[in-house]
Amino acid sequence: MSEQNEWGSNLSFILAMVGSAVGLGNIWRYPYVLYSNGGGAFYIPYIVAILLMGVPFLILEYGVGYNFKSSFPKAIRKINSKFEYLGWLLPISVFLIMIYYSCILGWDGIYIILSFFKGWGADPNTYFATTLLQSSESVSGITSFIPIIAIAMLISWVIVWYISHKDLEKGLGKVSKILVPLLFIIMIIIVLFSLTLPGAMIGLNELFSPDWSLLLDFNIWMAAFGQIIFSLSLGMSIAFTYASYTGQSSDLITNTLSIAFANCAFENFCALGVFSILGYMSLQSGTAVADLVTQGTGLVFIAYPTVLNVLGQYAYIIGPLFFITVYLAGLTSILSTIEPLAFSIQNKFTWSRHKTMTTLCIIGAVVSMVYATAFGGTLLGYVDAYINQIAILLGVILECIVFAWIFKCEDIVPVLNEKSRTLKLGKWWIYTVKYILPIFITIVWIGGVYDTLKTGSLDQTMTFGLLTLLIAVLVVIFTKLAPTNPNWDDTENRL
Ligand code: PFF
Repeated sequence: MSEQNEWGSNLSFILAMVGSAVGLGNIWRYPYVLYSNGGGAFYIPYIVAILLMGVPFLILEYGVGYNFKSSFPKAIRKINSKFEYLGWLLPISVFLIMIYYSCILGWDGIYIILSFFKGWGADPNTYFATTLLQSSESVSGITSFIPIIAIAMLISWVIVWYISHKDLEKGLGKVSKILVPLLFIIMIIIVLFSLTLPGAMIGLNELFSPDWSLLLDFNIWMAAFGQIIFSLSLGMSIAFTYASYTGQSSDLITNTLSIAFANCAFENFCALGVFSILGYMSLQSGTAVADLVTQGTGLVFIAYPTVLNVLGQYAYIIGPLFFITVYLAGLTSILSTIEPLAFSIQNKFTWSRHKTMTTLCIIGAVVSMVYATAFGGTLLGYVDAYINQIAILLGVILECIVFAWIFKCEDIVPVLNEKSRTLKLGKWWIYTVKYILPIFITIVWIGGVYDTLKTGSLDQTMTFGLLTLLIAVLVVIFTKLAPTNPNWDDTENRL
């Protein structure tokens, strides 16, 4: 099992972790979050969120994962056998993220091809919503199947399967070492080009003009913490699983600092590019930047094609480069979402990595077809809200409680400190992960759940109920199934 699931080097571990963190959240989510939460003033809650939560929590997740060198449910069982349910909850929720991520990758794959000839035509909004997605808000749209999206999604699944089913270092390790640097290089080219466009300064001025008064608004603090959780992929058992794959002794504290720095540098760099382009667009069209700013699908599949339409010949280079970047960022993230569940299954049922990945990819691909329907886009929005506003925050809270309190995080401090060449953990870290984080995130979680349920439609609330039921049933099944691994209950402490 160890050959199949061990990084060849510390570099593979760091790059795979950066690949997981750097994703759609950095490209489409962050620029909008920064802008709509006070611009330059947002940096204060953002930096506080990184220092207070991002770094301390990542160290906790890595430290415990490294300590157990086993899958998430196996480690949780070692901490307390009654908690195995929790051990399956996170890997299963992350697998659900994988299924909808495959849909966004599919859309983006289609746009890579369209970008060579601006195939979205003069009205990108109508093209995306009506021509491509045939968007329907009604559940009945689930019966109208869209083959082109299905094909694009299946291609993504084949790529993911091809990389994942190999031994860890030969597949994910090797691919991360190529794709992550490539992603950074292409992004640098796009941003440098964007900064030279006429009107770029209009966008950047708009982005950074700080609205200090917002600092007193609780919502911007919530937004900063939400962004860091999503962007650093916290509380999803991914960091845990990746750290458990590290073989030799590793300086986890320094690795954490490098990963957090790379991720945050990347998203701020993206924000420069996005706002320079919006500034250019504003100059061309006479529309205020504020009216052009959108997030998510709106930014990638509508605002960008609109800009490319007015960019002349450059669009045929920048367009494909941009959609390829989004694809690479999405791919390196989606690859991380299969690992926690796959490793857990391998551990409990002694399946090989090859067999586990092949089975999960087939199941994922079949289930993901629900997104290749006219209701797919709407459903994706619901699942995204459920995962980000409800499931992941809950994951962070539960991990804090189990790892910091029941496992007793103070036990791993001396060894982590001994290996660290940079930061040393002290009482501040223990205090942060035991008290400040769980309390603060519980408040953010309650606020988020209340807000989502209050503003959501009936269909959305019903989807939330169904998802909760589905996750609960799967968790019970995986927990109750008898292990075929005779060592399921033998987990050693490494630290
Ligand atoms: N961290 C990724 C991003 O910023 O886009 C998003 C993500 C990756 C979310 C992996 C969830 C996940 F399991």
